[in-house]
Amino acid sequence: MAKHDHDHKILRYRRNQRFVHALLASSFILLLLTGMVLLWGPLSFLAVGGNSRWLHRVGAIAFMLVPVAYLLADREGAKELLRETFRYDRDDISWFKHMYRYAMGHAAEMPPQGRLNAGQKLHHGAVIVISLSIVLSGLAMWFIKPTLGATGLAWTAVIHDLSMLALTLLLVGHLYFTYVYKAMSSMTTGYVDEDEARLEHSKWVEEIEHAEEEPQIEKEEQPAPQT
Ligand code: HEM
Repeated sequence: MAKHDHDHKILRYRRNQRFVHALLASSFILLLLTGMVLLWGPLSFLAVGGNSRWLHRVGAIAFMLVPVAYLLADREGAKELLRETFRYDRDDISWFKHMYRYAMGHAAEMPPQGRLNAGQKLHHGAVIVISLSIVLSGLAMWFIKPTLGATGLAWTAVIHDLSMLALTLLLVGHLYFTYVYKAMSSMTTGYVDEDEARLEHSKWVEEIEHAEEEPQIEKEEQPAPQT
């Protein structure tokens, strides 16, 4: 389907990208729930029988498969995400200066933004870095626990738990912005309303329009065939 359709909707995430995001979200929630059962005394009765230990490892494998799945399912999308996440321009810096307005739901007054706004860049970048910390500390506790020693194990567990806490707090913000900016359709149907997108990501919408106009211009500029 075209990126831009006649119902004034714009394609934001392709089907495979949405599938990868669903894998990320569900594996993270499984890790969080089973992790809390393993860690938190009042919930420990749920750990009886070892199911939560087993489920936690299933969640960990699914979570680690996310980057592999992204590269296999939509290599371009994965590369675009990495490229854009770590590249900030002047508009992004000035976006941060006014981010309280964005947090209050006033996107119209914000500096123009590309496909990802500066806050999303920060969120996605933090997800990548913190996930790496969760995975490495988790793998250490899974496979080389006896070699860590008591202090090493305690520090690894602290890093693992604090990283999960940080991603959980980020998730609260992520859900808040999804709700405030009615962004859920981008991960369900893949499409967003053109006017909403123009409000939040005007540079991105202009890029799409420009790309759609280009072949038209080329056609018009071609010399008329000689008869
Ligand atoms: C559980 C409920 C979740 C919901 C409802 C949700 C919702 C969304 C939505 C609507 C977007 C698109 C935002 C936009 O570009 O306009 C998005 C993107 C994203 N979310 Fe979530 N999310 C959830 C969980 C998570 C979790 C747990 C993580 C990380 C651990 C996460 C990380 C991301 C990332 C990295 C993107 C960008 C995806 C890409 O560019 O391919 N999300 N999410």
